[in-house]
Amino acid sequence: MLRVNDIYRSFGDRPVLQGVSFALKPASINGLIGPSGGGKSVLLKIIAQTCKCEYGSVVFDKGLSVADVGLMFQEGALFDSMSVYDNIAFPLVGGKVPTNSLPKEIRESVCDKVSEILARVGLSRAAYKMPGQLSGGMRRRVSLARALVGRPKILLLDDPTSGLDPVASSVIMNLIVELHKEYQPTTVMVSHDLRRLLPSVDRILGLFDGAIAFDGSLADLAGSAPAFVRSFVSCRFELPALPTEPTVTV
Ligand SMILES: Nc1ncnc2c1ncn2[C@@H]1O[C@H](COP(=O)(O)OP(=O)(O)OP(=O)(O)O)[C@@H](O)[C@H]1O
Ligand SMILES: [Mg+2]
Repeated sequence: MLRVNDIYRSFGDRPVLQGVSFALKPASINGLIGPSGGGKSVLLKIIAQTCKCEYGSVVFDKGLSVADVGLMFQEGALFDSMSVYDNIAFPLVGGKVPTNSLPKEIRESVCDKVSEILARVGLSRAAYKMPGQLSGGMRRRVSLARALVGRPKILLLDDPTSGLDPVASSVIMNLIVELHKEYQPTTVMVSHDLRRLLPSVDRILGLFDGAIAFDGSLADLAGSAPAFVRSFVSCRFELPALPTEPTVTV
């Protein structure tokens, strides 16, 4: 589905990504964890080609391209001067907003898609509001809708619940899991909220010191992960207890 090969990227004299490689299985949900400033957002942007790498490549399976990638940016990144509707329509119309300037057939197809995803994220009644009139949780749902409206085969979610209260965070995480069941996009999700993230993903990638220092399941994280990865995680999430050796009595 998607292979990331030996990616390098630095900013000034600060190396951020120093040989990042992994491959993703179709329809999997992958959690990307690691310390703040470690390059998770940069990595997602490189996959979505909104940021360049200095070395390495992102290889899509046959028939797929960057057009099949949907990225939900950290903090949402909505266009404040556009309505909720136009924000969500944006990836469908290549930036040709307002959408009422489009030919009728295209306008109708865009309207169907935007209306459907707005209903899914529970924002049908907010279509013509401006982002500034929405709560943080609603803005995140708009962002999620914008990432999903084109039904991307590859979905990149950058800290979709950051700064939200526990109820709004649960709403967003439940929506992501529910929509994943329907569309089955290959998903990479970054989150600092490990209690919500780790149980929801098939596989965990740990980005530490510019490289993937851990790649495995939650059980592997508790078992075979390097000590520094386990200690990063265990400050934020109670790792499952390892099965103990049976006691042999003679
Ligand atoms: N456009 C840019 N110009 C200069 N430096 C940048 C730019 N984008 C990212 N960086 C730097 O790259 C490093 C990695 O940033 P990045 O945002 O990817 O971290 P992160 O792992 O997503 O952190 P967080 O968990 O806090 O979101 C940081 O030191 C950041 O300052
Ligand atoms: Mg980030």
